[in-house]
Amino acid sequence: KKATPTIIVIFGGTGDLAKRKLIPAFYNLYLDGWMPEKFAIIGLGRTELDDEQYNNHLHEGLIEFSRKGKPDEAQWASFKKNVSYFKSNINNTGDYSVLAEKLDKIDADWGMRANRLFYLSVAPQFIEAVTVNLHDSKLASEPVSDRIIIEKPFGHNKETAIELNNLLTRTFQEEQIYRIDHYLGKETVQNILAFRFANALFEPLWNRNYIDSVQITVAEQVGVEERGGYYEGSGALRDMIQNHLLQILCMVAMEAPVSFQAEEIRNRKVDVLRAVRRIKPEDVHRYAVRGQYDAGWIQGKKVPGYREEPEVSPKSNTETYVAIKFYLDNWRWQGVPFYLRTGKRMQEKTSSITIQFRPVPHSTFPESQSDSLMPNRLTINIQPQMDIRMRFMAKKTGLEMNLNPAEMIFDYDTCSTQTPEAYETLLLDAMRGDTTLFMRSDQVEEAWDVIMPILDTWESRESLDFPNYAAGTWGPENAEALIARDGHVWATNLHPKEHH
Ligand code: BG6
Repeated sequence: KKATPTIIVIFGGTGDLAKRKLIPAFYNLYLDGWMPEKFAIIGLGRTELDDEQYNNHLHEGLIEFSRKGKPDEAQWASFKKNVSYFKSNINNTGDYSVLAEKLDKIDADWGMRANRLFYLSVAPQFIEAVTVNLHDSKLASEPVSDRIIIEKPFGHNKETAIELNNLLTRTFQEEQIYRIDHYLGKETVQNILAFRFANALFEPLWNRNYIDSVQITVAEQVGVEERGGYYEGSGALRDMIQNHLLQILCMVAMEAPVSFQAEEIRNRKVDVLRAVRRIKPEDVHRYAVRGQYDAGWIQGKKVPGYREEPEVSPKSNTETYVAIKFYLDNWRWQGVPFYLRTGKRMQEKTSSITIQFRPVPHSTFPESQSDSLMPNRLTINIQPQMDIRMRFMAKKTGLEMNLNPAEMIFDYDTCSTQTPEAYETLLLDAMRGDTTLFMRSDQVEEAWDVIMPILDTWESRESLDFPNYAAGTWGPENAEALIARDGHVWATNLHPKEHH
């Protein structure tokens, strides 16, 4: 279903996100016929630009970043008629009045009060000014159809996250606030729910009786790129675990929702976060490992260490790698370890979920074969490889009873033409008013609560062994030890043949 006519206002319209992600997403939605019959996109920024210059800037972004590549000239020309630029200052109340006039004029032209979507693609310190000014200028006065989208970070710790939520709810109702976690828009992440709850086969096994352990890995090959300034104040725990990895954990571990209603699903997810056992400060070293990359080699190219990156302190204590073992205190998962890890400058770019089942209770086969028995394993590859793989044991063809692991594979490539980008899914949902894939305030606060003991412990104690892994490896050695102590190995560190 298409959304009703919408005016999209992007604060930070000249920024990187608008160019790389937002405009390409709106444009691809437009090409695929998903944009509302009537829509307007207004980019806001401090730079002096006219509409033509702004559109040229966005056009460059499309060529470089859109999954569909260089836009067709005729299609781009018809799309850009809906895009304009407004030079303005976030702190200037007069500018909000002018913006209000612009929006009223569009409403008058369209003969209706259009939905309004305010996209805050700005640094955290500007959020307050924007929300207060939106409130005072009555720009977002309609309770349901006016919406605000905000990007992480949602606070810097639990306390500031609560402050941010209080600030937002002064102007907007919770239902109007769309907190983006772009991992939730990824096709493969959304499919976790379909896989679990649209099949009768897996759910009966999806618990502590049959599952031995779960791993969630989000490994990146890139370093901090141009974001050293931001990253120094963040680190991998805040940047990735607090949001993306904990959200994936929720999808894997949640109870079956009664319906696909947004609140129903969000309730089940927040239940998972509430069940995560809080790690005591004195136990942090046994449950969590931090790392920071040193210089090394990525695909045959020498790359600098984190401390040599632009805007990074040469003595930085910021972690670029995290591995954590969590337990969930509930009936379904009692005693099952969930290993989460993420890092920059890893050997491979790969995100995946590995569900390791328990071994068979008794080996029926000759002793010579017992050693080759491998427990069943389900791998959900999120990116860049997108597939679901089930490992099982099978008989090797031949005259003797020899066993071998085999795989059943569901490969997205063979059944889908083109995968939408996460932002396409999420922006369309926001235009349609569907909050399912967005973070509710209690989810955000609960996720902070889960990581606060680790965060506080690490911030209060300088890491003495940083840098502790070379770029292009799988992270620090003690991350291997964390999981090896329980008799496990990180799934993606296995030889590729074993892991596929
Ligand atoms: C962002 C983080 O939220 O996610 C980045 O701030 C990270 O540091 C990025 O690189 C990873 O996203 P993706 O979609 O490339 O896996």
